[in-house]
Amino acid sequence: MRSTHDVLIIGSGAAGLTLALRLPDHLRVAVLSKGPLSEGSSLYAQGGISAVLEEEDSLDSHVADTLTAGADLCDPKTAEFVIREAPGSIHWLLGMGVPFSTADNADGSTSLHLHQEGGHSHRRIVHAADATGRAVETTLEGLVRQKANVEVFEHHAAVDLITNRHVGSDAQHCHGAYVLDVKQDRVVTMAARAVILATGGASKVYLYTSNPDGATGDGVAMAWRAGCRVANMEFNQFHPTCLYHPRAKSFLISEALRGEGGLLLRPDGTRFMHDFDARGELAPRDIVARAIDHEMKRLGAECMYLDMRHRDRTFLEEHFPTIYARCREFGIDMATDPIPVVPAAHYTCGGVVVDRRGRTDLPGLYTIGEASYTGLHGANRLASNSLLECLVYGTSAADDIAASIDEMPPVPDPPPWDESRVTDSDEQVVVSHNWHELRQFMWDYVGIVRTNKRLERARHRVDLLQSEIREYYGNFRINADLIELRNLATVAELIIECARHRRESRGLHYTLDYPTLDTRLSPTPTVLQP
Ligand code: FAD
Ligand code: SIN
Repeated sequence: MRSTHDVLIIGSGAAGLTLALRLPDHLRVAVLSKGPLSEGSSLYAQGGISAVLEEEDSLDSHVADTLTAGADLCDPKTAEFVIREAPGSIHWLLGMGVPFSTADNADGSTSLHLHQEGGHSHRRIVHAADATGRAVETTLEGLVRQKANVEVFEHHAAVDLITNRHVGSDAQHCHGAYVLDVKQDRVVTMAARAVILATGGASKVYLYTSNPDGATGDGVAMAWRAGCRVANMEFNQFHPTCLYHPRAKSFLISEALRGEGGLLLRPDGTRFMHDFDARGELAPRDIVARAIDHEMKRLGAECMYLDMRHRDRTFLEEHFPTIYARCREFGIDMATDPIPVVPAAHYTCGGVVVDRRGRTDLPGLYTIGEASYTGLHGANRLASNSLLECLVYGTSAADDIAASIDEMPPVPDPPPWDESRVTDSDEQVVVSHNWHELRQFMWDYVGIVRTNKRLERARHRVDLLQSEIREYYGNFRINADLIELRNLATVAELIIECARHRRESRGLHYTLDYPTLDTRLSPTPTVLQP
């Protein structure tokens, strides 16, 4: 089967849906998601979206906080661009109908209620209680489903990009993607003039993560295979506080709790953050995650605790209804009990190298959202700057596509997916075993604290896995798990390679072999060329 559109958007999180809504109505657009349309990290975002909206705050201060968190590795021009566009993006979301939380002012008016998060020197986090992502994602989903020019393809997983190589042309261009229709179990050819990767992050490469199951770095791996540069993959952010409970898979305890005075405690009830950073619990995430990891290892403790007992039940229920209810499900009453927490992989700061309009190295291919490397996050992302980046680049890429699509080559007729040499697998256990092995060694060897030796071990293991996966991929019919495993192995290799290149500790990359910043050279991103 073959379909043709003007624009093919792979991914339906905040980035993909923003772009779909921002494109002009005369373009025929396809939006793919590998599960239900709203499923992805965007749906689970809690804390909010950062933007300067009060007079006491300033764009310069937001930029300075972003650069500080990014440990001198952000691109200042990108930070200025994104932060300048932030207030407009929030007003656009309000115009779309997103129900953000408001506060009553003394003069009887209302304004947006703003939270505080680590690394921010002002209250500037716009939120919808503690379920901001759900409010944004479901509002945008509702609007996209009503658009006559947008066709939605749920349960469709892109396998690989169609490039000029597939259509026998010398002129480099991305012409679409081969896509697994998961329910029909067949690979379809989806051709388009412009293709956007909005596939989210890759934190599923680690055993413990705050991310939903689909965060397997598919876009980064597809772009890499298509010849695009990838940068800064060593900077995987570990969120300091995920709920620690045997049944609590992937549940985040928002940084906004620390913004409301939450204290981190050892199991004996003593505080420890001031031993690590003068900003205490509101230090940037890399510092807090490392401090928790350090205390857990030093004490042999299973977790640390986040204490919200200084706030009364009404406040907690009103401001953090999702977290309050989830903790209750596990028998934790956050009004009276400290919450058990551990760090977990949360955000991929690196990704496909793009320019200010989301354009990659391959003409016709864009990457936006967590899959991209724009230069905004440097060595560590500032809290709540990610949804913002999705909104800003969703818009700038849409503007660029609208302005340039008429000059793009017409859609060619790519050959269908070739399955002539493969058979059905009777060894699916290989895929599930390799999934687990990969995530385990990435957690053990390429996690919060690294060493040269651990990285070498990880490289050795990923090479072995890659060759097994290649052989398996070449012989058996693909399925959703195999697609993801293949992509995770590629992403693991990219993370390890970037980490091996960086001979210093900076932001989220911490190695015992080079425990300090390299101040001899001006800091540069790690850029890998296929
Ligand atoms: P996602 O929202 O992850 O969407 C990815 C999309 O791509 C999905 O539709 C998926 O189906 C699709 N996809 C992936 N691969 C394929 C494929 N091969 N074929 C077809 N479709 C594919 N950031 C903030 O700024 N503020 C917060 O408060 C915040 N809280 C967070 C809380 C949690 C628990 C998590 C996990 C993240 C949080 N983040 C937060 C980070 C932020 O949510 C993400 O970075 C952001 O939502 C990513 O959006 P995205 O559109 O790039 O990708
Ligand atoms: C959180 O609510 O702590 C997550 C915010 C983010 O990832 O930016």
